[in-house]
Amino acid sequence: MRRLPPVLFEDGCSRELVSLIRTILAACKEISFRVGQGALSGVLGSTLDENIQGETQKKLDVLSNQLIKDILLESGYVKAIASEEEDYTVAGNPDAKFIVSFDPLDGSSNTDINSLVGTIFSIMEAPEGSDPADPAIFMQPGKNQIAAGYVLYGPSTTLALSTGKGTRIFTLDKTHGSFLLTENFAKIPEDTQEFAINASNQRHWQPAMKDYIADLLAGSEGPRQKNFNMRWIAAMVGDVHRVLCRGGLFTYPADTKNPEKPYKLRLLYEANPMAMLVEQAGGLAHTGETRILDIEPNDIHQRVAVILGSKNEVETCLTYHK
Ligand code: AHG
Ligand code: MN
Ligand code: MN
Repeated sequence: MRRLPPVLFEDGCSRELVSLIRTILAACKEISFRVGQGALSGVLGSTLDENIQGETQKKLDVLSNQLIKDILLESGYVKAIASEEEDYTVAGNPDAKFIVSFDPLDGSSNTDINSLVGTIFSIMEAPEGSDPADPAIFMQPGKNQIAAGYVLYGPSTTLALSTGKGTRIFTLDKTHGSFLLTENFAKIPEDTQEFAINASNQRHWQPAMKDYIADLLAGSEGPRQKNFNMRWIAAMVGDVHRVLCRGGLFTYPADTKNPEKPYKLRLLYEANPMAMLVEQAGGLAHTGETRILDIEPNDIHQRVAVILGSKNEVETCLTYHK
């Protein structure tokens, strides 16, 4: 089986980009080890702190953030980083070319129940002559990403990675510590009979999403004339991985539960990298109003609605939003 670096070099990635990706993955291997140790690692449970978004931080959120942040800043490969668990962007090497945004631990509510969690990352180039301390360098649409990926800490540790030439899946060989290529070009089936949504928010959704989901639930007796299955992992990495493996529609739509926070998922750390992976595997990623990768961000912690997955099913969902 082929190791990650030669595959990336064949895709035309620069030595610097490959080194940056390997640097991120070095931290992910350590997170994978700690997650795998479970209660023995002493990192389950919550801290007493909240992040800038008002969410209680789990010990693993803080640890994962520290591991990735330290290794990236030490490496010299990054001009700046933005993390879900950092209040502000952090400046790195002023001469470096890359900027990285990341969700150090996605699915934190799963940490204490031995369920799926992962790390999501997105790599862009900093604008020429930009100031490493200026958060404006992150205000670029997701279509500017030169690489995006996630590492899923499941029964096996898997990496989904795109550098713009398809989406590849690698599996961590824990005996040697290498990510080995296990699926060359992931292809999301265009049609599906499976969807993922947190249905407990149903009464707070907009009419378009209420109508769409009602038609899925009506199954073979409804307008869709076929039955749909539902799954919800509470970790976007887990749900998107399933979509990459066998198709499906995943959505976290707008809701009115908290009028100050209509959306849940973050553009820079979650929506953008997942949108690139999904599009590169033949799927679609949209908010209901616009293609996710076209959004011009106005804040590093900005949140958006997300509808992604099998092409034909996302298109059907979008017809309800017109
Ligand atoms: P995080 O753990 O990084 O805060 O992200 C959790 C996100 C996403 O991964 C998941 O799909 C969603 O929040 C789950 O939300 P609910 O708890 O509302 O189901
Ligand atoms: Mn997350
Ligand atoms: Mn997180």
